[in-house]
Amino acid sequence: MISYSYSAGLFGIDGFGVTVECHSTNKLSVFEIVGLPDNAVKEAKERVRAAAINSRLPFPDNEIIVNLAPADKRKEGSSYDVAILVSILLSNRVFNSPDKLKDACFVGELSLSGSIRPINGVLCMTVAARREGKKQIFVPYENAREASVIDGIEVYGVNSIVEIVDHFNGLRELSPISFDINDDISPVKYPDFSEVMGQSQARRAAEIAAAGGHNLLLIGPPGTGKSMIAKRIPSILPEMTFDESIETTKIHSVSGILPEGTSLIRQRPFRSPHHTMSAPSLVGGGKIPQPGEVSLANNGVLFLDELPEFNRQVTESLRQPLEDGKITITRAAGRITYPSSFMLVCAMNPCKCGYYGHPTHPCTCKKEEIKKYISKISGPLLDRIDIQIEVSSLNYSEMSSKQMAESSESIKERVNKARKIMQKRFVGEKTEAGAPITCNAQMEAKHIKKYCSLSNECSALMERAFTALGLSARGHDRILRLARTIADLAGSDDIMQSHIAEAIQLRSLDKKYFN
Ligand SMILES: Nc1ncnc2c1ncn2[C@@H]1O[C@H](COP(=O)(O)OP(=O)(O)OP(=O)(O)O)[C@@H](O)[C@H]1O
Ligand SMILES: [Mg+2]
Repeated sequence: MISYSYSAGLFGIDGFGVTVECHSTNKLSVFEIVGLPDNAVKEAKERVRAAAINSRLPFPDNEIIVNLAPADKRKEGSSYDVAILVSILLSNRVFNSPDKLKDACFVGELSLSGSIRPINGVLCMTVAARREGKKQIFVPYENAREASVIDGIEVYGVNSIVEIVDHFNGLRELSPISFDINDDISPVKYPDFSEVMGQSQARRAAEIAAAGGHNLLLIGPPGTGKSMIAKRIPSILPEMTFDESIETTKIHSVSGILPEGTSLIRQRPFRSPHHTMSAPSLVGGGKIPQPGEVSLANNGVLFLDELPEFNRQVTESLRQPLEDGKITITRAAGRITYPSSFMLVCAMNPCKCGYYGHPTHPCTCKKEEIKKYISKISGPLLDRIDIQIEVSSLNYSEMSSKQMAESSESIKERVNKARKIMQKRFVGEKTEAGAPITCNAQMEAKHIKKYCSLSNECSALMERAFTALGLSARGHDRILRLARTIADLAGSDDIMQSHIAEAIQLRSLDKKYFN
């Protein structure tokens, strides 16, 4: 007799439906799992048998062949355990109404005692189960909130295989868990901008960057507040849309870093990897490719402090994700693409001693040393950083001022307003790579043409800047994108001369440091 149960597998952040077929006869006592299983799936045999016996469920002594279909897709990990045991129990006639299981999907790892352990990627698997037309999904209890985000499918959080058997046999009724948008763990509290004294240009640059999603480079001598400002950026980032939340949660779910009890990530992520990190941990990798920092920062911020200290190979690997908003990792197991649309924030000193260009403090570096230090950051990378500004030393009156600076909450209000304008503007707009556009930084040439038209006076100002600063076409587009964000922050439909002038200011560093 052949019995069927249903499960879901993972490929990157995409789930796919899996049918678990179980064939059992009165022949020899063998137990085989086929259908491209990896070692963890093969080991399910031992877990499944022990879980059944220790739960006092009848486990057949005869031949069992379990096939995970489609057989051409690689199956990895321990998440098929529950579905495998369910199909074996079905073939052993443990369920009194087997038809009731036809619309159900099962995911979860079994312990030897029969309890069910949490797994990674449940959100993506739930999406796949719904797509396959399943009406219910049974997931490990700890993963239930995460799965409940998806509507159109009932989610049951279960602690053991016995609960599943009893539920279907009418011995105990489990209730599906419902999603509540307000029911979340307390959000991360980020430090506040009110603690940053002076530095009005850098504060303003952070606000513009957050509003438009622009990449930002802060450069300056030690102790001026570069790291301090960067670490406060998450406190002013705009609210996430539901789709952005789902996408980011999927990535964190697959990586297994979703805090227990979280249903949906609603705060933009802030990732700040150390400069000793390797390229694979930045962009993703491993035998079964896992998302790297660029993907964990998706829809949020990737902060690289002390940028020149990063290995050049590591920073160079940022080019593809910065350009395309996604990263493709190729391994023997196949090609996996993860989203990686993030705002890059970098901080650095202008030279090894930190004081090159300082008005009073002498720099002790040799000319070649300064050149070498700066050249660690490649032109193509710098080219993708819209805002590059200097954060200079505070003067005494700024430092000793008793007045509190503007709070993050109040800055965030403006940022949210501006971002809403952008979201409305870009409804239906897509990048060449097919990704939806949600903020000004993502505009490509054709969108800039459409949404950044200039009056005659503004064109004349642009022309003068173009000649005086020796701008490239790329630099020209960048200034228009920034000017669009500055206009949105001001609630202005049109880009004005003052917006362009401010945008130009945010790019004044190229000449001083990088040429
Ligand atoms: N603008 C500022 N307002 C208030 N405190 C500041 C400011 N700038 C610096 N500080 C104080 O100095 C400390 C160091 O600042 P921060 O780490 O941001 O400097 P940095 O510019 O990143 O320096 P480095 O180049 O050495 O990394 C902060 O923890 C804070 O106490
Ligand atoms: Mg610092």
